[in-house]
Amino acid sequence: MQARKIAEGIHWVGAVDWNRRLFDGLIPLPDGTSYNAYLVQGDDKTVLIDTVDPALEGVLLERLEGIEKIDYVVSLHAEQDHSGTLPVVLERYPQAQLVVSKKARDMLADLLPLAPERFLVVEDGQQLPLGGRTLKFIYTPWVHWPETMSALLEEEGVLFSCDFFGSHIASSELFVGDQGRVYEAAKRYFAEIMMPFRTVIAKNIEKLSAYDIKMIAPSHGAIHRQPQFIVDAYRQWVSGPPANRVVLAHVSMHGSTQLLVDRLAEGLVERGVEVEKFDLPVTDIGKLAMSLVDAATIVIGTPTVLAGPHPAAAYAAFLANALRPPARFLSIIGSYGWGGRTVEMLSAMVPNIKAEVLEPVLCRGLPGPEDLQRVDGLAEAIVAGHRREGLPAGG
Ligand code: FEO
Repeated sequence: MQARKIAEGIHWVGAVDWNRRLFDGLIPLPDGTSYNAYLVQGDDKTVLIDTVDPALEGVLLERLEGIEKIDYVVSLHAEQDHSGTLPVVLERYPQAQLVVSKKARDMLADLLPLAPERFLVVEDGQQLPLGGRTLKFIYTPWVHWPETMSALLEEEGVLFSCDFFGSHIASSELFVGDQGRVYEAAKRYFAEIMMPFRTVIAKNIEKLSAYDIKMIAPSHGAIHRQPQFIVDAYRQWVSGPPANRVVLAHVSMHGSTQLLVDRLAEGLVERGVEVEKFDLPVTDIGKLAMSLVDAATIVIGTPTVLAGPHPAAAYAAFLANALRPPARFLSIIGSYGWGGRTVEMLSAMVPNIKAEVLEPVLCRGLPGPEDLQRVDGLAEAIVAGHRREGLPAGG
């Protein structure tokens, strides 16, 4: 396997993980992923930016064959899918210094067997001359973890951004081809790991806007030769208005809750509101997370099980709470057999979602006409809420 040239003196030396289907034991990867590492050569110095997941360390080492000397290894992000091969690389290049942010030094020291004397800590804005070209380090925290930073090759305007602007796609193509596909994958990725940090990410985007960036090379997925495409998408995700959409995350055991869910979905569509339904026991949680990025309303549909919400609904609520979506309205619908505390328990699970709670609809057993009318009332309340938010409901 060869290094692949992406620009003069810049080579991709990463690995494509075609078969990986789960990340962090949590996140589905329907399209696999890649771990992008880059070799940047100046007149005087050679730099490796990030490494690959340890499972594919052999791929990186093979792509580096023939490279006799690396002066600096930059670790933009301490997570092991990029840092895990650092010990092997540093062993192969014993003269290389490990360039990190201050926080990354501490985290890497906790996570990996790395000798303290190998670290070279750089400050926000510090430059590293390579001979004829310069790397500038720009702290961009919380584009997953708190220690993340970006590196800008100033003369060419190439930004190495680690997880920022990345996407989980395994492909033989290095650059964005199908923008729609990359948009979907990047939005999913943003939803899964960055949505909770929207405020700081918005600041990072503004910080980067001071630079003339011509190419963005993230650590996962396609490289952006039209960076405005992905920067605009991020701007929308972090601070755009919500969409006139309801996320209807539901589970039903014997069909009663399903009748409520279907009635609500129908009523919303008739009233001009987009609906995305997720059957929780079988849904792809990445798809659910992606829809939460900009949905104005979340409704959880659940039967009562053992006096509380169905575990699938509890899991969805826990996940949504952790992701802190910007929803404006929240409600619960469901059927129960003889009692329970479903509404109280679910409501207590989502303190991070700062949404107005619309009157839940719980019914005993099979929903009757009055129950379905109450569901229609919830649809009306959602439409009214969306109108208050200036969304084009009621069309
Ligand atoms: Fe791709 Fe947060 O590591």
